[in-house]
Amino acid sequence: MSQVKFYQPEQQVPLEMHKVRMVQKISLLPVEERLKKIQEAGNNTFLLQNRDIYLDMLTDSGVNGMTDLQMAASMRADDSYAGSETFNRVKAAVKEVFGTDNILPAHQGRACENILASALVKPGQVALMNFHFTTTKAHVTRMGGTVEELVHEKGLKPQSNDPFKGDFDLRKLRATIKEKGAENVAFVRVEAGTNLIGGQPVSLENMLAVTDICHDNGIISVLDASLLQDNVYFMKTREARCKYMDIKAIYHLLADHFDIIYFSARKLGFAKGGLITSKDPKYTKMMMEYIPLYEGFLTYGGIDVRTMEAMAQGLYESLDMEYINQGPEFINYLAKELDDYGVPVILPAGGLGCHLNAGAFIPDMPHDKYPAAAVAAALYIAGGIRGMERGTLSEQRNPDGTEPFSELELMRLAVPRRVYTLSQLKYVADRVKWLWDNRELIGGLEWVEEPSVLRFFFGRLKEVGYWQEQLAEKFRKDFGDSL
Ligand code: F0G
Repeated sequence: MSQVKFYQPEQQVPLEMHKVRMVQKISLLPVEERLKKIQEAGNNTFLLQNRDIYLDMLTDSGVNGMTDLQMAASMRADDSYAGSETFNRVKAAVKEVFGTDNILPAHQGRACENILASALVKPGQVALMNFHFTTTKAHVTRMGGTVEELVHEKGLKPQSNDPFKGDFDLRKLRATIKEKGAENVAFVRVEAGTNLIGGQPVSLENMLAVTDICHDNGIISVLDASLLQDNVYFMKTREARCKYMDIKAIYHLLADHFDIIYFSARKLGFAKGGLITSKDPKYTKMMMEYIPLYEGFLTYGGIDVRTMEAMAQGLYESLDMEYINQGPEFINYLAKELDDYGVPVILPAGGLGCHLNAGAFIPDMPHDKYPAAAVAAALYIAGGIRGMERGTLSEQRNPDGTEPFSELELMRLAVPRRVYTLSQLKYVADRVKWLWDNRELIGGLEWVEEPSVLRFFFGRLKEVGYWQEQLAEKFRKDFGDSL
């Protein structure tokens, strides 16, 4: 993208190296309807219906645009319970991309985590990570283990110039292994890039240092490669030693050092499904018995064969900079637009999406009035845009009923790849800027129905007072009869 320079540098925008040949109609409801819909959805963006959404920025998982070659590949799928050619094509793609021979398919990323945890975590053990992901933590704790986060403190600073805020704190990693004893560490997991702290990447140098520490201590190293496409883009553009490295060489180097790699193919490869791979067959052997138990036979692992073909093609495409740069560059564009206006966003922009710092957006709002969820509800009212709360509401209550307050109150605007245009992102920036200028109208939320588990998926809340009606009225006043 950025290799194409504009004659007027101030007009430079990310430029796509693809064209779109299939489109889908979306609609934008009037603001009064949007107000009604978000209240009917219990102020929970997970409970909105797609037909009521203009831009769906909830996630980049399983909603990315597929290429013509992925669609074509899915048509030649070889359907059979065992031994399909489709499996062999996935195997060949993984061999090309990671250089590994051993693969276990599973139906999505969290299914891989279920298998990993079932095989590797014993009660009382700890899994060390730069940062947890919701499903990963749930599977480790389900097996009687605990999770400890060892991200470098720079990762929790909302704004900085640090290019790799997802890095492990290596000193803490060594100290924690010493303190716990290597035998009590189930595995060390690097999430690259990291989801819950704003899609922040991990440097190659840091990843290799982590695997060295694991090797020295006889601990299994695991790479969650779900967001690796974005991470590799950042390595190529931010890390000197990667600048001239072939993308494939980076993937291969990682696979040489990590014992186990797994990923959600809803993200890596722009398809669906999930996969575990290792260079040394001893690791896949430790896990393979769980695949027929939980997923399906070893050659399909619960994934539809058409999806497996799209995944295989998508993996080849994950080596193409002209595909993998689109997400990070669009996200950077949106983050920069907002930052220039003074809106608090996570900086530097990471992968996955643009993250609004809701804690700074409405700084007087207490954690237990859910500022990030309130901003998400307000943005839906302001523009029919669906984001995702990633703050206190996404946490789980402690056994004694108290609430752990999230360090970062984020509202994520995921950017599905190759789905929305730059003009649509400009619209998002415009509506967020309007909301920022009217932020004193945003109030808190309180529970109507609070489920005991996964409350962020199913919970229902209501506004405290009548701030949402006032916000909708202000919109009407400022925008006249515009949608
Ligand atoms: N690991 C990471 C880093 C993820 O971001 C996700 C999913 C998973 C594992 C689980 O994969 O969804 O295929 O089961 N992240 C999605 C999101 C849900 O919206 O960020 P999955």
